[in-house]
Amino acid sequence: MAKYIVEGGRRLDGEVEIHGAKNAVLPILAATLLVGKSTILNCPSLSDVAAACAILEHLGARVTKEADRIEVLTDQLTSSTIPEHLMREMRSSVVFLGAIIARCGKARVSMPGGCELGPRPIDLHLSAFEKLGVKIEEDHGYLECTVPDKLRGANITLDFPSVGATENIMLAACTALGETVIHNPAREPEIVDLAAFLQKAGAKIEIGENGTIYIQGVPDLVGVEHRVIPDRIEAATYLCCAAITGGRVVLREVIPSHMNAIFPILEEAGCGLAIKPDTIVLHAPKRILAPKMIRTMPYPGFPTDAQSPLMAVSCVAEGSTIFIENIFENRYKQAGELARMGAKVKVEGRVAVVEGVPKLHGAELVSTDLRGGAALTCAALSAEGVSQIKDIYHIERGYQDFDKNLKSLGAIMETVDD
Ligand code: UD1
Repeated sequence: MAKYIVEGGRRLDGEVEIHGAKNAVLPILAATLLVGKSTILNCPSLSDVAAACAILEHLGARVTKEADRIEVLTDQLTSSTIPEHLMREMRSSVVFLGAIIARCGKARVSMPGGCELGPRPIDLHLSAFEKLGVKIEEDHGYLECTVPDKLRGANITLDFPSVGATENIMLAACTALGETVIHNPAREPEIVDLAAFLQKAGAKIEIGENGTIYIQGVPDLVGVEHRVIPDRIEAATYLCCAAITGGRVVLREVIPSHMNAIFPILEEAGCGLAIKPDTIVLHAPKRILAPKMIRTMPYPGFPTDAQSPLMAVSCVAEGSTIFIENIFENRYKQAGELARMGAKVKVEGRVAVVEGVPKLHGAELVSTDLRGGAALTCAALSAEGVSQIKDIYHIERGYQDFDKNLKSLGAIMETVDD
């Protein structure tokens, strides 16, 4: 397994081009099951994207990848089952369920297990499917879904605006009979991007001003070409890496309006930001000022995925930061590793308090999860001395060319086999 070796203390300075969004491309790959031929542009090269393509191929789709372009042909499917090893590879495989049910009238998938962020149940997905006419049974760790009659539109109110559940309902509903209304859906930009893909393919989806999603079922969808939106979390991570080193970074190919909840925190931290339609420039002060409070919320609130890199930054800030994690139960796993670098972090349930210290020191670290691993790398960039970050396969799930990009900004680091 590969690891990073990072020599900290270099000020980052330079430009990074942001890739397509992981969390947008995954549900769009699932949506290709509803469409004969899809061409998806701006696809990042990530292990999660490879896992999604492996699922499509297992189902009988033909997938061709060339640079950042993926072509998917789904005219002849041969299976409606996702076996355990493919479900385990990526928890978000559950988003294939809605599309398989809509396309095949049945689906069999291994139950997605718990993961590093807490139990991550899928009760909201399943109760919504039942409302649309799906019969669900559990059979030795597999979910057996059948549609005894036809999928029928329904009025669905989500208790919590779950991203995955909203996507699954959209995928199941666009070819169902009649109208589906999703109240209290997730409003993330990745949901809007999935809607855009489906609309181009002929789906009748409208998103109301209060976020409510209206879907009028149509019999068929048609081939489509679509360019995936930029990854706002990848962008936020590079801003954190520049900020923690007192550096400067220019991000290209971004949609700054997707990051409106992140900018005020960076400004509170003393960073200067210049925002243009598709570019963000950040200038960090010599030492970051601690943002007082970071509360993760569903979009348009502060994204839980950016919490970990911001925690790394707050570890070396002047002052203290309180974090309140409202989305996932167990999303402070990086805190223990940051403490090994000399960070002062206390975690109590959904609250973490970070008291900034002038410097972190290099240490041997283990990536705990995707964003946690990115946070440790961010911390290592500013630390005194050398850090090793093991299990970087977590990071490779969500960041294309992370080491290459950081090196182009001036980081001294290498990737070696452990
Ligand atoms: C997606 C993102 C992930 C991001 C998260 C929140 C993808 C591939 N992943 O994950 O990066 O951190 O949104 O923005 O897009 N919940 C239930 N029951 C359900 C579904 C969810 O209790 O049926 C809970 C979860 O356990 C969690 C919360 O709701 O505590 C949010 O989950 P959800 O919005 O569904 O996140 P994901 O779609 O898994």
